[in-house]
Amino acid sequence: MKIVVTGGAGFIGSNFVYYELKNSDDEIICYDKLTYAGNLETLKDAENNPKYKFIRGSISNRERVYRLFEEEKPDVIVNFAAESHVDRSIEDPELFLRTNIIGTSVLLDACKKYGIQRFHQVSTDEVYGDLPLDRPDLFFTEKTNLHTSSPYSASKASADLIVQAYQRTYKIPATISRCSNNYGPYHFPEKLIPLMIINALNGKKLPVYGTGENVRDWLYVEDHCSAIDLIIRKGKVGEVYNVGGHNEKTNLEVVKTILKILGKGEDLIEFVTDRKGHDQRYAIDPTKIETELGWTPKTKFADGIKKTVDWYLQNKDWWEKIISGEYQDYYAKMYGNR
Ligand code: NAD
Ligand code: TYD
Repeated sequence: MKIVVTGGAGFIGSNFVYYELKNSDDEIICYDKLTYAGNLETLKDAENNPKYKFIRGSISNRERVYRLFEEEKPDVIVNFAAESHVDRSIEDPELFLRTNIIGTSVLLDACKKYGIQRFHQVSTDEVYGDLPLDRPDLFFTEKTNLHTSSPYSASKASADLIVQAYQRTYKIPATISRCSNNYGPYHFPEKLIPLMIINALNGKKLPVYGTGENVRDWLYVEDHCSAIDLIIRKGKVGEVYNVGGHNEKTNLEVVKTILKILGKGEDLIEFVTDRKGHDQRYAIDPTKIETELGWTPKTKFADGIKKTVDWYLQNKDWWEKIISGEYQDYYAKMYGNR
């Protein structure tokens, strides 16, 4: 099979490229616009693999996407390409609508025009909104209503609805996965876990929003990749699959764990102004993918977080290049007055 991985130069997409090159015989094409979040350094270990190719382009560029389909004739599209950071979506919602909604619809139009064996949309648990902190008995299932909070989650939910509309109306063989928060290698240091690791290593304050009581359900990125791999091969067309591993932690617990692994003091923690509209708790019920497709996550949070901290210690080159560039302006803008 020929699999086009859109957004394959980002965090989860690049891990998926490596996962497929290692575990399948399929040809993998990474199609990526290389925004601030896309990084060819991340894919340098794939460059010489004869099963791998990189093509630069935007999912929102119709002409370029059609040319991709004409030249490469993909069998499968796995759409990771997106603007993915909630805080940035609060600053500039329109970019999120253009990439996440229009980009997805352009890809679907190409599937309709040229044909496809499978279109897989990589979505998020954030489309379900949030759960209250005082109801630990509640979880997101595939039947939970879409109820979004941020421009990011609204754009992802809209894309999901477009995928479902194309599946029903034009019979595009599509599937959707909605995963909880990922962590692991190549995670861009604007997100909680890599930002905290790098700040702690640099002796900088760790900015915790609000009280730090918000809960996220953390999944090691390789477990997300194995779930998507199963869905594109065995998942049923038209279905949504929730992906998560019951690793719920408050932000404060995560930050304290990182400090402990690094042997740093909790005095580095700084409580800062809360995120606008901040979702309280995410928690996935993964029963469907476990029972129907036999998926099980392999990595427990306690092990995954150690592996992740270790990766950032071993790969300073990768993140030092990132934080020496325009990241400085980003950091000053987002955290300067918090
Ligand atoms: P990321 O920001 O690290 O990477 C996004 C990638 O998409 C980058 O390589 C970027 O260059 C590329 N991209 C952006 N706009 C593009 C465009 N117009 N055309 C082509 N490429 C473009 O994001 P991530 O964390 O790897 O997330 C990947 C996907 O997984 C997203 O769709 C996100 O919504 C979803 N997701 C993420 C998480 C998480 O915890 N990170 C959890 C669940 C779902
Ligand atoms: P993030 O990694 O941005 O993922 P998401 O918002 O998509 O879940 O944030 C995870 C949690 O960490 C979220 O509750 C916001 C919080 N957070 C902080 O407290 N400080 C920070 O500097 C960042 C980036 C996030």
